[in-house]
Amino acid sequence: MTDPAGNQAPSASAAPTNNLPPANNTGPVVEIDETVVDRNDGNDSTYGDELSTYTASITSSVLAHEYKHGRRYHSYHAGNYQFPNDEPEQDRLDMCHHVYYRSLGDRLFLAPINLDGKRVLDIGTGTGIWAMQLGELYPKAELIVGNDLSPIQPHWVPPNVKFLIDDVEQEWLEPKSYDFIHSRYMVGSIRDWPKLIRQCYQHLKPGGWVEFQDTTNRLYSEDGTLDPENNVLKLMNNLIEACGRIGIPGDFAPRIKGELEKAGFVNVQEKIFKVPVGAWPKDKRLKEIGAFTALQFIEGVEGLTAATFSEILGWSKEEITVFNAKVIADCKRRDVHCMHEIRVIFGQRPE
Ligand SMILES: C[S@@+](CC[C@H](N)C(=O)[O-])C[C@H]1O[C@@H](n2cnc3c(N)ncnc32)[C@H](O)[C@@H]1O
Repeated sequence: MTDPAGNQAPSASAAPTNNLPPANNTGPVVEIDETVVDRNDGNDSTYGDELSTYTASITSSVLAHEYKHGRRYHSYHAGNYQFPNDEPEQDRLDMCHHVYYRSLGDRLFLAPINLDGKRVLDIGTGTGIWAMQLGELYPKAELIVGNDLSPIQPHWVPPNVKFLIDDVEQEWLEPKSYDFIHSRYMVGSIRDWPKLIRQCYQHLKPGGWVEFQDTTNRLYSEDGTLDPENNVLKLMNNLIEACGRIGIPGDFAPRIKGELEKAGFVNVQEKIFKVPVGAWPKDKRLKEIGAFTALQFIEGVEGLTAATFSEILGWSKEEITVFNAKVIADCKRRDVHCMHEIRVIFGQRPE
């Protein structure tokens, strides 16, 4: 049986890896044109106070790390990633996983590929949650490799999943060995996107698929409620500025489709999903996505600003503390209907 994108239906139901719902990769793909505001939001407490109390935990293994700004980071000598890798950040990444998964209609990927007997690479796997859910959902996939700078992935994983600690911006070892390469939420990490896309092309078997899932980081509102003084907007613009100053493009998602086509990929498609910040939409799924998006900002803003704002933008510790509090306050506002997008771009290496 296949789903609307042609993915093979799972032969076994996926067990949850933590307290997030199980993946099934079978939901309909719904691109929502109009984001309707929940006019009763003042009376609906479903995602009210909980916005500041959500927590999730995942096992981490500590091998080589650097400690600064009261947080734990990947080993200093590997890569240029500017964000922590400790448990609070891992919780934030798992919330983001949920936002992507729900936005895509409860699917882990959209490329039309049957993964039975196939080899998969997950670039910058983070906590490994995507790779592990994929391993549970596709037990007949031959191998799923999750690569990352940080050794933060659990040891108990599905038998076809393995993790590899490596810098994906360096040369890759295995040539032409994957059927599917997936990269999610890597804008803000990657310095040279055209090179990464070329590397994906070179390391895919002919006929193999690549898929990038990423957010556009310029926030907007459809009803004029987001003003330039909004602190979530300032947070994102400052992060783009900080990444830019160290040579990392902070808003590359809108350019990925063009780069895939330039690199020679065919059958390239882009799907765009609206992501609200806050539980203000009327639609139930968007309300949940918005609540988790606001939560990851509320719980994650300290990690997002700690190194970037101090080391790159030169802010003082006090300035950052005050700013973070303002971001948290603005995330909880119900009268601001702020949003951004998830873009999913997939393409095929010609046969
Ligand atoms: C924002 S997180 C996204 C994690 C994961 N892809 C997800 O969607 O849950 C970015 C991840 O990429 C990793 N990373 C950053 N630069 C990298 C590089 N050059 N090579 C490998 N991993 C990298 C970071 O350590 C971090 O875990």
